Amino acid sequence: MTEMQRPLRALGASGLTAFPLGLGCASLSGSYGPSDDDNALRVLHEAHSRGVTMFDTSDKYGNGHNEELLARAFGAVRDSVLIASKFGNMAGKDGKVADNRPETIQASCEASLRRLRCDAIDLYYIHRIDAAVPIEDTIGAMARLVEQGKVRALGICEVNPATLRRAHGVHPIAAIQSEYSILYRAEAEEVLSVTRELGIAFVAYAPLGRGLLTGAVQPGSLGDRDERLRHPRFSAENLPRNLELVQTIEEVARQRGCTSGQISLAWLLAQGDDIIPIPGTKTMTRLIENIEAAAIMLSQDEIAFIAKSIPPDAAAGLRYRAEHMKNMYL
Ligand SMILES: NC(=O)c1ccc[n+]([C@@H]2O[C@H](COP(=O)([O-])OP(=O)(O)OC[C@H]3O[C@@H](n4cnc5c(N)ncnc54)[C@H](OP(=O)(O)O)[C@@H]3O)[C@@H](O)[C@H]2O)c1
Repeated sequence: MTEMQRPLRALGASGLTAFPLGLGCASLSGSYGPSDDDNALRVLHEAHSRGVTMFDTSDKYGNGHNEELLARAFGAVRDSVLIASKFGNMAGKDGKVADNRPETIQASCEASLRRLRCDAIDLYYIHRIDAAVPIEDTIGAMARLVEQGKVRALGICEVNPATLRRAHGVHPIAAIQSEYSILYRAEAEEVLSVTRELGIAFVAYAPLGRGLLTGAVQPGSLGDRDERLRHPRFSAENLPRNLELVQTIEEVARQRGCTSGQISLAWLLAQGDDIIPIPGTKTMTRLIENIEAAAIMLSQDEIAFIAKSIPPDAAAGLRYRAEHMKNMYL
């Protein structure tokens, strides 16, 4: 295995940079079953001490708990971490989920800043695009947060190429964040042509396919409070088909003497120095394993073999349930 250190990766033209792998923090607030704060704080500190700089949160994760956790973890070293948070994915009293009204954005940001106990959020994303609000108005409201010094750079989750162009025309977008892994990559590859033209970073969420690509999820292994039970890729019908696809990655992992999760992350990192995967874990040993993947360089043959063996449309099951897919890639 050839090992070398990858340099920091730029978040578009914002001037911000990050270690090539960030840490997705959602599961530290219970998205995949119960989480323990003392353990979560140890995981966060370990990630930081091993060089991870970008920590990905949202006002949605644990209803604010996740942002408060990051404030507890990094209050004393705030300047050495890059906090990325999000708004617009909270169910309101009216049942509306994506709410991008300008007044909501201002209030959401101020509430996040109070929970994060800091003056500015480094990277602030639209978590879900609200089709009822023109993207120009949403980005205009976010640009005012930049003017007020409350936000340093702007991002958008689950955005399609046409909307991204319109958004970037109002204010520079530093990064987009969408699901991107070997298993689910058709939309990511489509939007990458535009992020590259415009000089925007791609933060890859669920880079381990929500754990599928590690081989650790097997039929019957998910706890009953794990939200993945509702994801089509883990259904009784689809999971075995997806696990068959993972065998290709397991084969490369055996040859390289590393794990399937590491091969999956190294494959994403090799797609371009504009890609920043943000795997999530509550487990110390897995955290270290994932960070070590940043030093694994796959050969062109290995990269091509994986891509050919698992074509972009190979996964069994949609990324989300059908009723949620209508809020994605807008
Ligand atoms: N913008 C959006 O709409 C959006 C949507 C989803 C996620 N995200 C962000 O992306 C982050 C990551 O996504 P994700 O957590 O959903 O999916 P992921 O990173 O693809 O997978 C996480 C799952 O894999 C397991 N895992 C992690 N490392 C492992 C390893 N080395 N070996 C075996 N299993 C391993 C974790 O279990 P353990 O915890 O037990 O280790 C967890 O169940 C989230 O935390 C969040 O910040 C954003």
